[in-house]
Amino acid sequence: MTLKNISDFRHLSPSSHPARAMKSNCIAALFVICSALVSAASFVACQNETTSLRQAFSSFKKKYGRHYRSRAQDEAFRFAIFKAHFKSLNAHNTEEGRTYDTGINQFSDMTEDEIVSEFCCPGGPQVLQAPNSEEVYYDLQDDDGNGPLDVTPYVNWTAAGAVSPVRNQGHSKYGWAFAAVGAVEGIHHIKTGNLVPLSTQSLVDCVAKDGDGCPPAEHNSGPLAWISLHGLSAEADYPYQGGKKSKCKSDVVNQPLAVRISGVKNVWPRRSEGALQLAVSRQPVPVAIDVTRIAKEYGRGIYNGWCDDTAPNHFMLAVGYGSDDAGRKYWLLKSSWGPEWGEDGYLRLERGVGSETGKCGIATNSDFPVMDDI
Ligand SMILES: *[C@@H]1O[C@H](CO)[C@@H](O)[C@H](O)[C@H]1NC(C)=O
Ligand SMILES: *[C@@H]1O[C@H](CO)[C@@H](O)[C@H](O)[C@H]1NC(C)=O
Repeated sequence: MTLKNISDFRHLSPSSHPARAMKSNCIAALFVICSALVSAASFVACQNETTSLRQAFSSFKKKYGRHYRSRAQDEAFRFAIFKAHFKSLNAHNTEEGRTYDTGINQFSDMTEDEIVSEFCCPGGPQVLQAPNSEEVYYDLQDDDGNGPLDVTPYVNWTAAGAVSPVRNQGHSKYGWAFAAVGAVEGIHHIKTGNLVPLSTQSLVDCVAKDGDGCPPAEHNSGPLAWISLHGLSAEADYPYQGGKKSKCKSDVVNQPLAVRISGVKNVWPRRSEGALQLAVSRQPVPVAIDVTRIAKEYGRGIYNGWCDDTAPNHFMLAVGYGSDDAGRKYWLLKSSWGPEWGEDGYLRLERGVGSETGKCGIATNSDFPVMDDI
């Protein structure tokens, strides 16, 4: 079984469950054990919460390749973090009326501070910006800045074939590069009908700052500005190195280019979910959100938990939006945390929250690539 099946266990009736005689906390723990992996043997092995917690932790370590340096110290520290997460997961996933489930993923043994310092680039929204980016979509807002006035209620660029498979940025801060590349893949598909996975590594090698792996803060030196000057190679010709930065190869003769863009535009007005909605209805758009808690907390559903709406720190690719059967509105975001994270690598994030920056700051400021018609 996989993580995706977490919710299936909520619907098992106690009488059909082999663990019916167990205490409720053990049953709650079983959701995780089963989701995290293993075989039917773990049902039998679940004698008490301590045991199930240990099993969930060892399965977690195996699945995510954890090898702690010192068993005595590191392992105990990581186990304590995992345990707190495991307990809050069990509490959260039995709450009535929740719109999302918490999951177990590669962040489950990390603190929020570690996630931010090792995976995030604070100050996110500025980094894609180019000074010459034209502002668009303003005229489609109403007088109060609401809107867009006339836009389709559901978009899914993945279903339209414009989105490459979810990749995994590894232990790095390169989410911004994946988001920028995904946006170019999207507009390229829309203009040509071809979906060509493009090179994130070229941005890592040629744009990321040495040291912290974030894009330069100076105007016109972010990834989209770089792509409009240099174009992008195909992933196959310039493949990702799992989070390692090396020498920029884009100027090397014979490095074949797959795609060129003709410019960069800015979603306008800023701080408007309506403007962002209209932009996303036309093409996939990179967005910055605060992932301090989402990274670890999100399993599936529409995330409406805590977020800092004023401090986006990580990029994802907005590939759609819609509303669920209960009418709850969401953004559909493609992560670069691998297909095991969230809903097959995607996040559905609450939309239409009424604050001008949107949930987690999603509508703060976004740039996107444009391609002249070919
Ligand atoms: C739970 O299991 C662990 C490990 O098997 C054991 O050390 C502990 O005493 C058990 N606790 C209870 C309350 O049965
Ligand atoms: C988007 O489309 C993909 C591919 O068809 C599908 O797997 C996914 O469930 C869709 N997501 C939403 C939120 O509609």
